[in-house]
Amino acid sequence: MNVYGLVLAAGQGKRMKSKLYKVLHPVCGIPMVGHVIHVLESVQTVQNIVIVGHGAEAVQANLGDRAAYALQAEQLGTGHAVQQAAPLLADKDGITIVICGDTPLITKSSLDQMIACHRERGASATILSAELSDPTGYGRVIRGEDASVRRIVEHKDCTADEAAVCEINTGTYCFDNRKLFEMLPKLTNENAQGEYYLTDVIGLLQEEGEKVEAYCLPDAAEATGVNDRVALAEVERVMRQRIVERHMRNGVTVIDPAHTYIGPYVEIGADTILHPGVHITGHTVIGEDCEIGPNCQIEQCRIAASVHITQSVLTQAEVEAEATVGPFAYLRPGAQIGPKVKIGDFVEVKNARIGAGSKVSHLSYVGDADIGQDVNIGCGAITVNYDGIAKHRTVIDDGAFVGSNVNLIAPVHVGKGAYVVAGSTITQDVEAEDLAIARERQTNKPGYAAKLKSRIQSRNQSQNK
Ligand code: UD1
Ligand code: CA
Repeated sequence: MNVYGLVLAAGQGKRMKSKLYKVLHPVCGIPMVGHVIHVLESVQTVQNIVIVGHGAEAVQANLGDRAAYALQAEQLGTGHAVQQAAPLLADKDGITIVICGDTPLITKSSLDQMIACHRERGASATILSAELSDPTGYGRVIRGEDASVRRIVEHKDCTADEAAVCEINTGTYCFDNRKLFEMLPKLTNENAQGEYYLTDVIGLLQEEGEKVEAYCLPDAAEATGVNDRVALAEVERVMRQRIVERHMRNGVTVIDPAHTYIGPYVEIGADTILHPGVHITGHTVIGEDCEIGPNCQIEQCRIAASVHITQSVLTQAEVEAEATVGPFAYLRPGAQIGPKVKIGDFVEVKNARIGAGSKVSHLSYVGDADIGQDVNIGCGAITVNYDGIAKHRTVIDDGAFVGSNVNLIAPVHVGKGAYVVAGSTITQDVEAEDLAIARERQTNKPGYAAKLKSRIQSRNQSQNK
């Protein structure tokens, strides 16, 4: 039976006090609503629909064709929100999972359990519930004397007895799709908030003799809905810990889990060690036996096995096996660092390939370059890739030696095994095995230092008169 996903995300999120639409606030680097769509995708929904409000364009720009969209121009409540999907969904047979865009901690396993419970018991609706020690603010799941689910009562509509119930509605449910859309027109807004509550569908179904169930989350933390920035930070902490624990269980050593920041889509091989202050984001893949950190920022990179990176920033870069990077290196988009390469301190690499075993040890800029194997780039040597109008490439073949403080004015080619003397500014190609020198010849003037000093002194005295 087809499973559909319906994400409620039209609320303004006033309590966030933000210019950014609530469900776009990131958690572990991914917008909340992105996590929610991801978890729906993980249970193989055939279609996901997001109900959007004022920030509609921003949500669509973020999620693109991972979802269809329905606009709720006025926020009249969660039931009214679901109703907006009727043109897309009402005539479909199947199960619809309704989930809020602000509950990013709900897991695939919980959705699977909820759906299994729904199917096994032949329910028309199944609530994902949780037991909270402090249920303040949440809708309560009200059960009859036989413990069967009767209805949900919103916090603001609770009697004292109902308010004492600790089983809450997480805002996630699965419904028989047709029955859901049959009930929605029957909702009224006669309640404390004057809204059309989706939660009232549960009571309506129950009254019509339909079976309604609740699957209670084993880990109540999953239920946390983000309404303000305090909850945002709490959700961030829980998700961060969850991700770090998964990697530790997979064989990654994390020296200080509370100070290690890993995005949800990062992959890391076993026996890699992460030191404190490491941030790894995007679809970064890191191989086995690496040592990363302390204090590294690695975004959307591919890093092979046995690589050592310390105190460095890497963005959209690739690093092959056994290379070392840092301290204080900056690898920018298109940096391709070959196996066993050494990238040392204060080296910046952009859109450049560096072949196996080459060394760029200190204080260099390598941009728009193709550097072969076993090349040595001396301290302070740079590629001069930009003439103020266009970027040009520097090509350095295998085994070449570029001395310290060399300027390579691109486009320029240094041949295999060539030797470029320190301090040279190279504007013409250097043939293989040739030596290039491009600097002033030195002249020494014997004894001239003392003469120069007395000349400077007498000039200073005449000026001070
Ligand atoms: C809702 C539930 C409550 C549950 C809680 C869990 C209702 C009536 N109540 O309460 O039982 O315990 O979630 O977090 O459903 N939204 C719209 N359009 C609207 C109103 C809301 O799209 O007109 C969206 C919001 O963007 C949000 C979600 O629905 O993502 C929930 O709305 P919110 O106002 O946060 O509901 P709660 O009061 O938290
Ligand atoms: Ca909420």
